[in-house]
This record gives sequence, structure tokens and C-alpha cells, in this order.
Amino acid sequence: MTRIVILTGAGISAESGLGTFRDAGGLWATHRLEDVATPEAFHRDPVLVHQFYNARRQQAAAAIPNAAHKALARLEATMGHDVLLVTQNVDDLHEKAGSRNVLHMHGRLAGALCHVCGHRWIAPPEMRPEDSCPSCRANATRPDVVWFGEYPHGMDRIEQALSEAAMFAAIGTSGQVYPAAGFVMQARQCGADTVELNLEPSETSSAFAQTRLGKASEIVSLWVDELLDSVPQG
Ligand code: OAD
Repeated sequence: MTRIVILTGAGISAESGLGTFRDAGGLWATHRLEDVATPEAFHRDPVLVHQFYNARRQQAAAAIPNAAHKALARLEATMGHDVLLVTQNVDDLHEKAGSRNVLHMHGRLAGALCHVCGHRWIAPPEMRPEDSCPSCRANATRPDVVWFGEYPHGMDRIEQALSEAAMFAAIGTSGQVYPAAGFVMQARQCGADTVELNLEPSETSSAFAQTRLGKASEIVSLWVDELLDSVPQG
């Protein structure tokens, strides 16, 4: 049974050098999401969309996890499958830090997907519209990320975990994108304690029982230490 569900967003990777979306100078300040993060955008201009994700894939491949990613891996190492880490992030910094029970609800930059046959494989550093699917050979390959207007991955598993969790935590997310922004209310309705860890109060801050403000690299380690101190050992 899942005892703790943790939702992470772009803020947890900010101190690893990966830009957030909605902070000043963030990705949505320099790109219109309608141009690069919808199925319609990809249909209109696949070259531009691939360029956007190729650049992000290369940046993410060079990034290293920070103390917040490592603290969550430490929590999982002690609590095992009692912890479900749900991330909106498409980078692999949780896995690089050692977390294994990670659900990428918005997909992964490291993945490629054929939108004709649904085959998935490891994305090359540079994807191009003329690439063909290794399974069906169609020229219909796309980054394996979830775009606006598409259904996030793993919703059944997430909803099940939220319904049985004793604790829900959201880290480094602005609470502006659903369904993730609604998880706090779902968890609360099922009786979970709730905590937000973020640089500043998010859009959904008032829904949390507790808000801790600061840099993820500092506040997440402290929170994990407290949790581990409260777990009976041995
Ligand atoms: P946002 O860019 O919307 O929010 C990032 C949050 O992280 C903000 O609330 C910041 O205050 C906080 N933050 C920034 N630096 C931080 C730090 N060092 N420590 C802690 N918090 C920090 O990113 P998300 O909420 O992840 O979806 O965005 C959600 C979704 O919107 C993304 O998955 C993406 C985007 O459009 C798709 O592309 C489908």
C-alpha cells in the first residue's frame, strides 16, 4: 500500500540548471506553449517542435541531480514501495539520483514514440521528422512526452495511490496544470495529511495543511530527515 505520494514539478530541477516554465525567464516566457507543446503544433511544424525537445533533451542529459532529488531517493531507499514519486518532469534526474518507483505522468524526454503503431524506444539525442519507427517504419516519430490536450500517463495508479496515502507532498510545482493541480484535494478528501514545499506559495497553496517555503535543495532534505526520524526503524 502506498503511504506517501510525492508530486514533483520543474522547481525541483531548477537548481540542477533546468529552467522552469512559469518563473521569470522560464520556458513559457521564451516559447509559446501553443507553438511547441500541443499535438496541433507538432502537426503544423514538426521541425520546430523537435528542435524544442532536442534542446531540452540535450540539456537534461548533461544535468545532475541536486540535494532534493537525492533526498527523495534516500526516502525511497528506506521506505521502498510505501513511497510513490509522481513527477510532471520529463527529465531523468530522479532516476539519476537513485529513485526507482517513479511515474512520469507527462512522459520522458529520453523516450521516443511512434504515433502510428504506439511503439516506444529510447530517443536519440536529436530526433527529426524524417526518422522512421524501428517497428512499423512509419515516418511518424515524436518525443514520448504528454502535450496539452493529451491524457497524462498512469492516472489510474495515481488515483489509487492518492486514495490510500497517509501523506501527499507537492514539491516545486506552481499548481497551474491539471490534473496534477487537483491531487491535493483528492488526497485531502481521502484523509491524507498534505504538505507543499516550494519557493513561493503556489496557486493551490491554501489547499495544503502545511506550506514550507524555500529552495528545494534545502527544504526537501530537512523534510525527508523529519519523515525518516518519525518512521519506526528495524
Ligand atoms: P512551473 O514552472 O509552472 O512552476 C515551477 C514552480 O517551482 C514555481 O511555483 C516556482 O516558484 C517553484 N520553484 C522555482 N525554483 C524553485 C526551487 N529552487 N525550489 C523550489 N521551488 C522552486 O512548473 P510545473 O508546475 O512543473 O507540462 O509545471 C507543470 C506543467 O506545466 C509541466 O509539467 C509542463 C508545463 O507546461 C507540459 O508540458 C504538459
